[in-house]
Amino acid sequence: MPSKEPQNPFDLPESGPILSAVEFEQFRYFIFTEAGIDMPPSKRALIQSRLSSRLRELGLDNFSSYWRILKQPDNAAERQKAINLLSTNETYFYRESEHFSWLQFHLLELEKQKKGPIKIWSAACSTGEEPYTIAIVLAETLGINGNWSLYASDINTRVTAIAKRAVYPLERVKKTPPHLWQKYFLRGRDEYAGQIRVIPELINRIHFFNLNLLQPKNFNQYDFDIVFLRNVLIYFNEDTKQTALSNVCSKIVEGGHLLISHAESIRNKELPLTMEAPSRYRLSKPT
Ligand SMILES: C[S@@+](CC[C@H](N)C(=O)[O-])C[C@H]1O[C@@H](n2cnc3c(N)ncnc32)[C@H](O)[C@@H]1O
Repeated sequence: MPSKEPQNPFDLPESGPILSAVEFEQFRYFIFTEAGIDMPPSKRALIQSRLSSRLRELGLDNFSSYWRILKQPDNAAERQKAINLLSTNETYFYRESEHFSWLQFHLLELEKQKKGPIKIWSAACSTGEEPYTIAIVLAETLGINGNWSLYASDINTRVTAIAKRAVYPLERVKKTPPHLWQKYFLRGRDEYAGQIRVIPELINRIHFFNLNLLQPKNFNQYDFDIVFLRNVLIYFNEDTKQTALSNVCSKIVEGGHLLISHAESIRNKELPLTMEAPSRYRLSKPT
Protein backbone atom coordinates (compact mmCIF):
# COMPACT_ATOMS: atom_id res chain seq x y z
CA MET A 1 0.00 0.00 0.00
CA PRO A 2 1.37 3.45 -0.83
CA SER A 3 2.23 5.49 2.27
CA LYS A 4 -0.13 8.33 3.11
CA GLU A 5 2.81 10.46 4.23
CA PRO A 6 4.40 12.66 1.53
CA GLN A 7 7.61 10.92 0.40
CA ASN A 8 9.23 13.53 -1.81
CA PRO A 9 8.67 17.08 -3.04
CA PHE A 10 6.66 15.80 -6.01
CA ASP A 11 4.05 14.10 -3.86
CA LEU A 12 0.51 14.97 -4.80
CA PRO A 13 -2.28 15.62 -2.37
CA GLU A 14 -4.37 12.53 -1.46
CA SER A 15 -7.08 13.58 -3.92
CA GLY A 16 -4.52 13.41 -6.79
CA PRO A 17 -5.10 14.07 -10.49
CA ILE A 18 -8.37 13.08 -12.12
CA LEU A 19 -8.43 10.60 -15.00
CA SER A 20 -10.47 12.25 -17.78
CA ALA A 21 -12.73 10.24 -20.08
CA VAL A 22 -10.20 10.58 -22.93
CA GLU A 23 -7.31 9.47 -20.72
CA PHE A 24 -9.38 6.55 -19.44
CA GLU A 25 -9.87 5.38 -23.04
CA GLN A 26 -6.08 5.51 -23.59
CA PHE A 27 -5.27 3.32 -20.57
CA ARG A 28 -8.21 1.08 -21.31
CA TYR A 29 -6.84 0.53 -24.82
CA PHE A 30 -3.39 -0.08 -23.33
CA ILE A 31 -4.41 -2.85 -20.91
CA PHE A 32 -6.65 -4.44 -23.53
CA THR A 33 -3.94 -4.61 -26.21
CA GLU A 34 -1.20 -5.66 -23.77
CA ALA A 35 -3.07 -8.21 -21.64
CA GLY A 36 -6.53 -8.69 -23.16
CA ILE A 37 -8.09 -7.24 -20.01
CA ASP A 38 -11.37 -5.56 -20.91
CA MET A 39 -12.09 -2.67 -18.52
CA PRO A 40 -15.64 -1.30 -18.78
CA PRO A 41 -16.27 2.44 -18.18
CA SER A 42 -17.37 1.59 -14.63
CA LYS A 43 -13.68 0.86 -13.86
CA ARG A 44 -12.50 4.44 -14.47
CA ALA A 45 -12.08 5.23 -10.75
CA LEU A 46 -10.24 1.93 -10.27
CA ILE A 47 -7.74 2.71 -13.05
CA GLN A 48 -7.25 6.22 -11.64
CA SER A 49 -6.54 4.91 -8.15
CA ARG A 50 -4.24 2.08 -9.32
CA LEU A 51 -2.08 4.33 -11.52
CA SER A 52 -1.93 7.31 -9.18
CA SER A 53 0.78 5.69 -7.01
CA ARG A 54 2.99 5.42 -10.10
CA LEU A 55 2.33 9.05 -11.04
CA ARG A 56 3.45 10.04 -7.54
CA GLU A 57 6.63 7.93 -7.81
CA LEU A 58 7.48 9.59 -11.13
CA GLY A 59 6.56 13.08 -9.90
CA LEU A 60 3.88 13.51 -12.56
CA ASP A 61 0.82 15.66 -11.98
CA ASN A 62 -1.43 14.35 -14.75
CA PHE A 63 -2.27 11.12 -16.55
CA SER A 64 -1.50 12.43 -20.05
CA SER A 65 2.18 12.82 -19.08
CA TYR A 66 2.22 9.21 -17.92
CA TRP A 67 0.55 8.10 -21.14
CA ARG A 68 3.33 9.79 -23.15
CA ILE A 69 5.94 7.84 -21.14
CA LEU A 70 4.09 4.55 -21.65
CA LYS A 71 3.83 5.09 -25.40
CA GLN A 72 7.59 5.39 -25.92
CA PRO A 73 8.49 2.30 -27.96
CA ASP A 74 11.64 1.54 -25.92
CA ASN A 75 9.84 1.70 -22.58
CA ALA A 76 8.86 -1.96 -22.10
CA ALA A 77 9.86 -1.79 -18.42
CA GLU A 78 7.33 0.97 -17.71
CA ARG A 79 4.63 -0.87 -19.67
CA GLN A 80 5.25 -3.93 -17.49
CA LYS A 81 4.89 -1.75 -14.37
CA ALA A 82 1.56 -0.45 -15.65
CA ILE A 83 0.37 -4.02 -16.40
CA ASN A 84 1.36 -4.99 -12.85
CA LEU A 85 -0.72 -2.13 -11.46
CA LEU A 86 -3.75 -2.68 -13.67
CA SER A 87 -4.25 -6.45 -13.36
CA THR A 88 -6.42 -7.80 -10.55
CA ASN A 89 -4.66 -10.46 -8.48
CA GLU A 90 -7.07 -11.58 -5.76
CA THR A 91 -6.49 -15.17 -4.70
CA TYR A 92 -6.14 -17.43 -1.64
CA PHE A 93 -5.24 -21.01 -0.65
CA TYR A 94 -7.89 -23.67 -1.35
CA ARG A 95 -10.04 -21.26 -3.39
CA GLU A 96 -12.99 -23.25 -4.81
CA SER A 97 -11.99 -26.28 -2.75
CA GLU A 98 -14.09 -28.77 -4.80
CA HIS A 99 -11.41 -28.55 -7.50
CA PHE A 100 -8.82 -29.81 -5.04
CA SER A 101 -11.01 -32.69 -3.83
CA TRP A 102 -11.44 -33.72 -7.47
CA LEU A 103 -7.69 -33.27 -8.08
CA GLN A 104 -6.80 -35.65 -5.25
CA PHE A 105 -9.15 -38.29 -6.61
CA HIS A 106 -8.02 -37.81 -10.22
CA LEU A 107 -4.30 -37.96 -9.37
CA LEU A 108 -4.78 -41.50 -8.09
CA GLU A 109 -6.36 -42.44 -11.44
CA LEU A 110 -3.56 -40.73 -13.38
CA GLU A 111 -0.90 -42.43 -11.28
CA LYS A 112 -2.27 -45.83 -12.36
CA GLN A 113 -2.38 -44.86 -16.06
CA LYS A 114 0.80 -42.84 -16.61
CA LYS A 115 4.42 -43.85 -16.90
CA GLY A 116 5.98 -40.36 -17.08
CA PRO A 117 5.52 -37.47 -14.65
CA ILE A 118 2.06 -36.02 -14.04
CA LYS A 119 2.22 -32.48 -15.43
CA ILE A 120 0.11 -29.60 -14.13
CA TRP A 121 0.07 -25.89 -15.04
CA SER A 122 -1.41 -23.03 -13.05
CA ALA A 123 -1.78 -20.62 -15.96
CA ALA A 124 -2.75 -17.40 -14.11
CA CYS A 125 -1.12 -18.11 -10.78
CA SER A 126 -1.11 -14.60 -9.29
CA THR A 127 0.79 -14.50 -5.97
CA GLY A 128 1.11 -18.29 -5.79
CA GLU A 129 -1.67 -19.47 -3.50
CA GLU A 130 -3.22 -21.58 -6.28
CA PRO A 131 -0.03 -23.44 -7.32
CA TYR A 132 0.97 -23.99 -3.68
CA THR A 133 -2.46 -25.50 -3.01
CA ILE A 134 -1.98 -27.77 -6.04
CA ALA A 135 1.51 -28.67 -4.76
CA ILE A 136 0.13 -29.60 -1.33
CA VAL A 137 -2.44 -31.91 -2.94
CA LEU A 138 0.28 -33.43 -5.15
CA ALA A 139 2.58 -33.93 -2.15
CA GLU A 140 -0.21 -35.46 -0.07
CA THR A 141 -1.27 -37.82 -2.84
CA LEU A 142 1.96 -38.73 -4.67
CA GLY A 143 4.63 -37.64 -2.18
CA ILE A 144 6.63 -34.43 -2.06
CA ASN A 145 9.35 -36.09 -4.17
CA GLY A 146 6.81 -37.94 -6.33
CA ASN A 147 6.78 -38.18 -10.11
CA TRP A 148 5.07 -34.85 -10.86
CA SER A 149 5.97 -31.47 -12.26
CA LEU A 150 4.17 -28.22 -11.64
CA TYR A 151 4.44 -25.02 -13.71
CA ALA A 152 2.96 -21.68 -12.64
CA SER A 153 2.82 -18.48 -14.70
CA ASP A 154 1.29 -15.02 -14.78
CA ILE A 155 1.63 -11.93 -16.95
CA ASN A 156 2.33 -9.84 -13.83
CA THR A 157 6.01 -9.84 -12.79
CA ARG A 158 5.24 -8.37 -9.34
CA VAL A 159 2.97 -11.28 -8.33
CA THR A 160 5.32 -14.04 -9.49
CA ALA A 161 8.09 -12.45 -7.38
CA ILE A 162 5.74 -12.66 -4.38
CA ALA A 163 4.91 -16.26 -5.30
CA LYS A 164 8.59 -17.25 -5.31
CA ARG A 165 9.06 -15.67 -1.87
CA ALA A 166 6.05 -17.67 -0.58
CA VAL A 167 5.36 -15.55 2.52
CA TYR A 168 1.66 -14.97 3.21
CA PRO A 169 -0.54 -13.38 5.85
CA LEU A 170 -2.44 -15.96 7.94
CA GLU A 171 -5.67 -14.57 6.50
CA ARG A 172 -4.75 -15.98 3.07
CA VAL A 173 -4.33 -19.59 4.29
CA LYS A 174 -7.36 -19.90 6.55
CA LYS A 175 -9.19 -22.30 4.19
CA THR A 176 -6.25 -24.74 4.27
CA PRO A 177 -7.21 -27.85 6.30
CA PRO A 178 -5.56 -27.37 9.75
CA HIS A 179 -3.76 -30.75 9.74
CA LEU A 180 -1.69 -29.59 6.74
CA TRP A 181 -0.40 -26.39 8.33
CA GLN A 182 2.42 -27.98 10.32
CA LYS A 183 3.51 -30.08 7.39
CA TYR A 184 3.72 -27.38 4.72
CA PHE A 185 3.93 -23.96 6.45
CA LEU A 186 6.51 -22.36 8.72
CA ARG A 187 5.06 -19.92 11.25
CA GLY A 188 6.65 -16.48 11.21
CA ARG A 189 8.16 -14.94 14.32
CA ASP A 190 9.22 -11.41 15.29
CA GLU A 191 8.76 -9.16 12.24
CA TYR A 192 7.09 -12.09 10.43
CA ALA A 193 4.51 -12.67 13.19
CA GLY A 194 1.05 -13.18 11.68
CA GLN A 195 2.57 -14.63 8.50
CA ILE A 196 3.52 -18.08 7.23
CA ARG A 197 6.12 -19.27 4.74
CA VAL A 198 5.67 -22.32 2.56
CA ILE A 199 8.36 -24.94 3.24
CA PRO A 200 11.33 -24.70 0.82
CA GLU A 201 10.91 -28.34 -0.33
CA LEU A 202 7.52 -27.38 -1.81
CA ILE A 203 8.64 -24.01 -3.20
CA ASN A 204 11.47 -25.76 -5.05
CA ARG A 205 9.06 -28.09 -6.84
CA ILE A 206 7.30 -25.28 -8.73
CA HIS A 207 8.62 -23.67 -11.93
CA PHE A 208 7.45 -20.05 -11.76
CA PHE A 209 7.68 -17.83 -14.84
CA ASN A 210 6.01 -14.95 -16.66
CA LEU A 211 3.72 -15.58 -19.58
CA ASN A 212 1.02 -13.68 -21.43
CA LEU A 213 -1.74 -16.18 -22.23
CA LEU A 214 -2.36 -14.36 -25.50
CA GLN A 215 1.25 -14.76 -26.67
CA PRO A 216 2.64 -17.96 -25.17
CA LYS A 217 5.28 -18.26 -27.90
CA ASN A 218 8.29 -18.82 -25.65
CA PHE A 219 6.65 -21.51 -23.56
CA ASN A 220 7.86 -24.83 -24.89
CA GLN A 221 6.10 -27.20 -22.50
CA TYR A 222 3.26 -29.41 -23.79
CA ASP A 223 1.30 -32.48 -22.70
CA PHE A 224 -0.15 -31.09 -19.52
CA ASP A 225 -2.50 -33.48 -17.78
CA ILE A 226 -4.32 -30.67 -15.99
CA VAL A 227 -4.40 -26.90 -16.46
CA PHE A 228 -5.88 -24.51 -13.90
CA LEU A 229 -7.12 -21.39 -15.73
CA ARG A 230 -9.26 -19.92 -13.01
CA ASN A 231 -10.55 -16.39 -12.49
CA VAL A 232 -8.79 -14.89 -15.48
CA LEU A 233 -11.22 -15.50 -18.40
CA ILE A 234 -13.62 -13.28 -16.49
CA TYR A 235 -11.49 -10.24 -17.47
CA PHE A 236 -11.51 -11.09 -21.20
CA ASN A 237 -14.08 -10.46 -23.95
CA GLU A 238 -15.32 -13.39 -26.07
CA ASP A 239 -12.61 -13.05 -28.77
CA THR A 240 -9.80 -12.82 -26.24
CA LYS A 241 -11.22 -15.76 -24.31
CA GLN A 242 -11.18 -17.78 -27.51
CA THR A 243 -7.50 -16.90 -28.15
CA ALA A 244 -6.42 -17.68 -24.59
CA LEU A 245 -8.41 -20.92 -24.52
CA SER A 246 -7.06 -22.23 -27.81
CA ASN A 247 -3.51 -21.37 -26.72
CA VAL A 248 -4.04 -23.27 -23.47
CA CYS A 249 -5.81 -26.22 -25.15
CA SER A 250 -2.82 -26.67 -27.48
CA LYS A 251 -0.74 -27.44 -24.37
CA ILE A 252 -3.06 -30.12 -22.93
CA VAL A 253 -2.69 -33.81 -23.66
CA GLU A 254 -5.65 -35.60 -25.27
CA GLY A 255 -7.99 -36.63 -22.45
CA GLY A 256 -6.40 -34.03 -20.14
CA HIS A 257 -8.38 -31.55 -18.06
CA LEU A 258 -8.98 -27.82 -17.93
CA LEU A 259 -10.36 -26.19 -14.80
CA ILE A 260 -11.92 -22.73 -14.87
CA SER A 261 -13.70 -20.88 -12.08
CA HIS A 262 -17.32 -21.64 -11.21
CA ALA A 263 -17.99 -17.96 -12.00
CA GLU A 264 -16.77 -18.41 -15.60
CA SER A 265 -18.16 -20.14 -18.67
CA ILE A 266 -16.96 -21.42 -22.03
CA ARG A 267 -19.50 -20.82 -24.75
CA ASN A 268 -17.42 -21.53 -27.84
CA LYS A 269 -18.44 -24.89 -29.30
CA GLU A 270 -15.45 -25.12 -31.65
CA LEU A 271 -12.92 -25.67 -28.89
CA PRO A 272 -12.02 -29.36 -28.38
CA LEU A 273 -13.50 -29.33 -24.90
CA THR A 274 -16.24 -31.44 -23.38
CA MET A 275 -17.77 -30.32 -20.10
CA GLU A 276 -17.49 -33.06 -17.47
CA ALA A 277 -18.85 -31.03 -14.57
CA PRO A 278 -19.46 -27.31 -14.01
CA SER A 279 -16.05 -25.57 -14.44
CA ARG A 280 -14.27 -28.81 -15.42
CA TYR A 281 -13.57 -29.70 -19.07
CA ARG A 282 -11.85 -32.57 -20.83
CA LEU A 283 -9.79 -32.17 -23.99
CA SER A 284 -11.39 -34.39 -26.59
CA LYS A 285 -8.65 -34.17 -29.23
CA PRO A 286 -5.46 -32.15 -29.62
CA THR A 287 -5.78 -28.77 -31.39
C1 LIG B 1 -7.79 -12.97 -10.04
S1 LIG B 1 -6.22 -13.63 -10.40
C2 LIG B 1 -6.57 -15.39 -10.36
C3 LIG B 1 -5.58 -16.14 -9.53
C4 LIG B 1 -5.87 -17.64 -9.36
N1 LIG B 1 -5.90 -18.32 -10.63
C5 LIG B 1 -7.16 -17.86 -8.62
O1 LIG B 1 -8.15 -18.32 -9.22
O2 LIG B 1 -7.22 -17.55 -7.42
C6 LIG B 1 -6.10 -13.32 -12.17
C7 LIG B 1 -4.66 -13.35 -12.67
O3 LIG B 1 -4.67 -13.37 -14.09
C8 LIG B 1 -3.53 -12.65 -14.53
N2 LIG B 1 -3.70 -12.25 -15.95
C9 LIG B 1 -4.51 -11.30 -16.47
N3 LIG B 1 -4.35 -11.24 -17.80
C10 LIG B 1 -3.43 -12.16 -18.14
C11 LIG B 1 -2.85 -12.57 -19.37
N4 LIG B 1 -3.18 -12.01 -20.55
N5 LIG B 1 -1.93 -13.56 -19.34
C12 LIG B 1 -1.56 -14.16 -18.17
N6 LIG B 1 -2.08 -13.81 -16.98
C13 LIG B 1 -3.01 -12.83 -16.96
C14 LIG B 1 -3.46 -11.46 -13.58
O4 LIG B 1 -2.18 -10.87 -13.54
C15 LIG B 1 -3.88 -12.11 -12.24
O5 LIG B 1 -2.77 -12.46 -11.46
